[in-house]
Amino acid sequence: MKIFAIETSCDETALSLVECTGGAKKPQFKVLKNLISTQIAVHRPFGGVVPSLAKREHIKNLPKLLKRMGFSASGKEFDAIAVTVGPGLEPALWQGVEFAQALAKKFNKPLIGANHMEGHMYSILLPKNAVSTKMPSSKFQVKKFGTENPKVKFPAVGLVVSGGHTIVVRMDSFTKWKKLGETRDDAAGEAFDKVARMLKLPYPGGPEIQKLGAKGNPKAIDFPKPMINSGDYDFSFSGLKTAVLYYLRDHPRANKADVAASFQQAVIDVLTKKAMRAAEQFGAQTVFLCGGVAANKPLRASLQLQAERRGMHFVVPEFVFNTDNAVMIAAAAYIGHLRKKTYKIVVNPHLNL
Ligand code: KG4
Ligand code: ZN
Repeated sequence: MKIFAIETSCDETALSLVECTGGAKKPQFKVLKNLISTQIAVHRPFGGVVPSLAKREHIKNLPKLLKRMGFSASGKEFDAIAVTVGPGLEPALWQGVEFAQALAKKFNKPLIGANHMEGHMYSILLPKNAVSTKMPSSKFQVKKFGTENPKVKFPAVGLVVSGGHTIVVRMDSFTKWKKLGETRDDAAGEAFDKVARMLKLPYPGGPEIQKLGAKGNPKAIDFPKPMINSGDYDFSFSGLKTAVLYYLRDHPRANKADVAASFQQAVIDVLTKKAMRAAEQFGAQTVFLCGGVAANKPLRASLQLQAERRGMHFVVPEFVFNTDNAVMIAAAAYIGHLRKKTYKIVVNPHLNL
């Protein structure tokens, strides 16, 4: 089936058209269209996402992107519409949901509610070897997509790490999975964003910390690695964030590159250790990494090294599918539809995995 998906949970307005086949055993996704309009420049002066501005930008961008999808009046190009119902910013989510409801009515198509976090999780199934080109009005448009769908062998254990969530999950099949643990306070991406702000780096902080950290020594400062040895699969990043704050207060002339590198290393060590412990405990054949923070190159390298050392297969989506996009929403809607577990078309900002 062909799914037209809409994503507006945060600061990206995204539309996609994805051909979904293969069923629950071997789901395959062919990306026909992928449009992402990022609002980073709008929110940057405020140091973070401003919900009312996000809403305003979605209202402005949704019709523009729809036009660029080039659908005919009958909507014959797709069989169903999917929309993110949560989690995310409530005013932002509503824009996508109302837009999707109006289109479902206009085109007389079924409307499928999708969970943004399931979208990130299923992004591990999206095709590899995408070639992307930067565009002035949107972050990137992928011109050519690979046709190779990554192989995921079960059991699989992975990390879903974004701006709002940090979760360890075990997958026994594409339709059966269990959350093993999650953060008790800040998400990993949130910690990156907050520490970036302390270092006077622009929003979003993750890529900025990575860039600055590449010039620093990750062993320079021994920041705490909260809960690294706790017996569960939960995380806590707020203490680490505070440790960076106090370090900067007590060392006004600190080498910022060393601070960025050492902070990043502390996050990577905790994420890698917990994910690998879960992978060993459950005899994982595949280890995966997804969500916006999966774009972090040293984190990708750390998890890949540790997984492959143990003879486990490592899967991480293409960079273009790490941060928010609507292709992953189509994938989540398709699998939700196969599982007979789709979401009501009602915004739920606190939806979880
Ligand atoms: O998944 P995502 O696009 O949005 C949410 O669902 O939250 O994730 C955004 C988060 C932000 O906190 C951003 O700083 C982080 O992902 N991020 C990174 C990198 N690129 C994005 N964190 C670390 N390193 C990166 N290269
Ligand atoms: Zn996201």
